[in-house]
Amino acid sequence: MSKPEADQMYPKYREIEKFKEEFGSSFYIFSPEQFSSNYESFVCSFQKYYPLTKVAYAYKANYMPVLGDIVNKHGGMIEVASRLEYDIALKSIEPKNIIFNGPMKTKEDLTQAIKLGSIVNVDSFYELDYIKELLDEREIDSASIGIRINYKIPEHSSRFGFDINNGEFDKAITIIEQDNRIHLVAIHSHFTTKKRCLNTFTIRTKKMVEVYNKLYPRHDIRYIDIGGGFFGGMTQELRQKYNLEVPTIDQYAKTITSVLHEEIASPEKPTLVIEPGISMVADIMHLFTEILEIKKIGNTLYAVCDSSINIVNPEKSKITPSYRIIFKNNKSFTESSTFTIAGSTCLEHDIIIEKHEGTLKRGDFIMFINKGAYSHVRTPIFIMPRPPIIGREGQIYKEKDSSEYVLEPYIFETKQ
Ligand SMILES: Cc1ncc(COP(=O)(O)O)c(C=O)c1O
Repeated sequence: MSKPEADQMYPKYREIEKFKEEFGSSFYIFSPEQFSSNYESFVCSFQKYYPLTKVAYAYKANYMPVLGDIVNKHGGMIEVASRLEYDIALKSIEPKNIIFNGPMKTKEDLTQAIKLGSIVNVDSFYELDYIKELLDEREIDSASIGIRINYKIPEHSSRFGFDINNGEFDKAITIIEQDNRIHLVAIHSHFTTKKRCLNTFTIRTKKMVEVYNKLYPRHDIRYIDIGGGFFGGMTQELRQKYNLEVPTIDQYAKTITSVLHEEIASPEKPTLVIEPGISMVADIMHLFTEILEIKKIGNTLYAVCDSSINIVNPEKSKITPSYRIIFKNNKSFTESSTFTIAGSTCLEHDIIIEKHEGTLKRGDFIMFINKGAYSHVRTPIFIMPRPPIIGREGQIYKEKDSSEYVLEPYIFETKQ
């Protein structure tokens, strides 16, 4: 089922105008209810077919602390890819509910995460070396760890984890088995494919179960973590833009869990972990920005808004962002024209929408739809501050970046 169109759910001009008075001409509006509902959809769909499922929200997609708090209220988990994200997650959730992934972990990161009981999925040999050193130095008494595995899936390859086809994974397993203080408790893999289709999830799950069955019963693997890479609920408009088959969460759940039911060899089933990112947060935030000026250069009509390509499309996706115009005054429509919607930085290439057909004037607002995932967290503080994040009632979730915030880590020359 597709979702209601975003403009049915979001504010009219008079509300936007009130927000503008308080927060300026650019802000995100965030819905915690939407995040909660997305989280519940994953949990309910997967647990219906496989009760032993844990949903670990991938914090990299958007690490607003309120999201961590909501996951915690649901008794869920958070997946992190760095110490920075780990420390942010710790503010909301118990360490045992954090999964620590990523190719970069210092010895100190590993000490802390292992001591606190987080699930640490090692990605490289150097991490195994660190863990052995920590055991020898008696920093830790034992280490229960997971391992990220790597294999080929159609139309995609990954550079992470240990390759199960070229001996690297076997080498890692030998290192683990030679040290009885290290316990392998989880296997993990993740792929972000373009199509995010059911077939690749079947292949991924089958591979994971194949490895699980090989390790059983030598290793007490308690978690099969198949990562993220799902599509979330999408409006009809977005579905058309992607021009792809968009499975429902229920279809993903049925596909993955049927492989687990059919192919797991052990009598006791492991916990299934999924790590959805974009699918959990894309639709929880929309970006609103005012048209500051309409100007003509040569024959081109530029509509300049108080945002930038770095904010609207930091990933430089080739897909044109979805947007709506929220008109200042419906009655004063001028003739329809073609506009180039530009950002307010001094970059020549700060063009957000190449071609907008319609009417536009100063004071209209643009609503960029579904800007909750990998948008705010990937926006650099370059020329412009990042906009504030507010709720539908005007409550603040994040302030607009200030010069004090930007300068905080810098050391000023001491004045004599
Ligand atoms: C290890 C891991 N898990 C989960 C995710 C989330 O992926 P997505 O946002 O596509 O669901 C990522 C994204 O890069 C990842 O690297």
